[in-house]
Amino acid sequence: MEIDLHDYIASIPDYPEKGVIFRDISPLMADGDAYKYATDKIVDYAKDRNVDMIVGPEARGFIVGCPVAYKLGVGFAPARKKGKLPRETVSASYDLEYGTAVLQLQRDAIKPGQRVLVTDDLLATGGTIDATIRMVEELGGIVVGTAFIIELKDLHGREKIKDYDILTLIEY
Ligand code: PRP
Ligand code: HPA
Repeated sequence: MEIDLHDYIASIPDYPEKGVIFRDISPLMADGDAYKYATDKIVDYAKDRNVDMIVGPEARGFIVGCPVAYKLGVGFAPARKKGKLPRETVSASYDLEYGTAVLQLQRDAIKPGQRVLVTDDLLATGGTIDATIRMVEELGGIVVGTAFIIELKDLHGREKIKDYDILTLIEY
C-alpha cells in the first residue's frame, strides 16, 4: 500500500517566528501505519548500502533512526547537544540563525571502517547533518548515505552535503 506522507505532516504557519511554516512530523509518528511506512522506506535504502551503524542527531534524528536500526539489527549512536554525553567525545559546531551550536558524539561510537547511515527528520539548511557527518568521519566511519523524512527545498541543504547520497521521502 502506498501512503502519501504529506497527509501526515502538520504545517504550522508563523512558528517559531513570523513567516516560517513549521513542518511537524508528530501526526506521522502518531499513526502506526505511516510511521512504519516511512521507517520501511529508509530500511530498504539502508539494506542496499550494507549499513553497520546508524547515527542521528538530537532529538528527532533518534525518532527516525532508532526504529531503522532495530529493524536492521544494527546499532544506533546518538549525536547529542553539547554537554549531554558522559564520556570522551568528538564535537562539531554548526550555524544557527543567531550564533552557533555544538553537537557531540561519543568517541567510541563508531569503529574505523564502519558503514554509517545518518538519519534525521528534516533537511533544512543542512547544518545539523553536516556537523553529524563530520564527527562520524573524524572517528573513521564511512558515511554511505543520509536519510530524511522531509526536505525543505528552498533552504538548499542538499548543496551542503552534495558529496553524499541523500534519501528524502517528501519535499516542501
Ligand atoms: C531541527 C530538525 C533537524 C534540523 C534541520 O532540529 O529536527 O535536526 O533542525 O535544520 P538544518 O538542516 O538547518 O540544520 P532542531 O535543531 O530544532 O533540534 P530538535 O530536534 O532537538 O528540536
Ligand atoms: N520543521 C521542523 N524542524 C525544522 C524546520 C521545520 O519546518 N525548519 C528547520 N527545522
